[in-house]
Amino acid sequence: MSNKSLAKERDQLTILVTGGAGFIGSHTCVELLTRGYSVIIYDDLSNSSPVAVDRVRQITGASEAQLQFVQGSILDVPAMAAVFAGNEIDAIIHFAGFKAVGESVRKPLEYYHNNITGTLLLCQVARAHGVKNIVFSSSATVYGEPEFIPITEDCPKHDCTNPYGWTKSMLEQILSDLYVGDNEWNVVLLRYFNPIGAHVSGLIGEDPKGIPNNLVPYVAQVAVGKLEAVGVFGNDYPTPDGTGVRDYIHVVDLARGHVAALDWMGGKVGTGAAIGLGSVAGEPAADGSRRGVGIFNLGTGKGSSVLDVVAAFSKACGKDLPYVIKPRRAGDIAENYAACQKAADELGWVAEYDLARMCEDSWRWQSNNPNGYASE
Ligand code: UFG
Repeated sequence: MSNKSLAKERDQLTILVTGGAGFIGSHTCVELLTRGYSVIIYDDLSNSSPVAVDRVRQITGASEAQLQFVQGSILDVPAMAAVFAGNEIDAIIHFAGFKAVGESVRKPLEYYHNNITGTLLLCQVARAHGVKNIVFSSSATVYGEPEFIPITEDCPKHDCTNPYGWTKSMLEQILSDLYVGDNEWNVVLLRYFNPIGAHVSGLIGEDPKGIPNNLVPYVAQVAVGKLEAVGVFGNDYPTPDGTGVRDYIHVVDLARGHVAALDWMGGKVGTGAAIGLGSVAGEPAADGSRRGVGIFNLGTGKGSSVLDVVAAFSKACGKDLPYVIKPRRAGDIAENYAACQKAADELGWVAEYDLARMCEDSWRWQSNNPNGYASE
């Protein structure tokens, strides 16, 4: 069966966003809706809130027809089949998946089953309905201990340090193999660096369950008085101040990277077929839509240390945030940041916002919603 064409105006396209109620998903829905796309959020709400969907509607003014919400799991084939049967879906942006690194070590079966089986089932259902356009939410974690920095897309993938990371790495392989087996597929793998920040409205943001594992949500909860002090995991790394260096990227920039990926798949931006650096080149379809596997880093190209983040957040919230030095966290690397040239050249996408702005927006979200979506 052939594939849906993405060589159409944005307001003629309907995107299925799995995990669309989550942190990155909800911000991506806002960017899609404001550019005219129709969106169907498919989310099991296992780590997200229906309030996020209401807030997306509030920000964008989307109608019930332009933004639909379906509660369901990517393991539920009949539920997914009903969504495809009832709507003209053109492409999928696939965020749904478990994502807690530490939990994945304790629950490998659950992680492999949900993330990998769920994606296989999603792709089977999509294919059965003639939809072979997918943007996948991958991660810089697939580079493992990176061979060189800044990390280009052709930096060899290395062993991951946890099952969560392996699910991202394995799914990249699986989705690439879909194209190899059937050249109708049009796949984009987006390797995210460290998404933080929030929509400028302060209405949507990151809402981790329990004590946050990631740095910025933790810092934000210290700022709001829910946690006492930031634990800095190691100050003896070979970095300028000894603390870990990451490429933090504003979640709105990241979300816009997904819109750019759809434009690229539809042949609206970029040069010809998918270019090198890890991508599998494909012949464009007769209508100009691309076919192939495009791989892109989404980062800023700038590294910030843990202490840089604490300082920037302190400035944003107007008070010095306390921190204590702790031992290194198992599985952490010293430093990573992205080479972003490929996304700039091919997608026409460049991150705009700096660390100060990321922290200001995170703080606005956290201070307006001290208990996340449960504040409502
Ligand atoms: N850190 C602290 N204290 C904390 C939390 C983190 O010092 O309380 C440090 C870490 O050691 C690291 C940096 O802050 O140096 C960033 O840590 P995060 O947990 O925020 O992010 P990671 O870089 O470990 O992980 C992120 C995503 C993963 C993804 C990975 C890809 O959370 O999903 O990037 O590189 F796999």
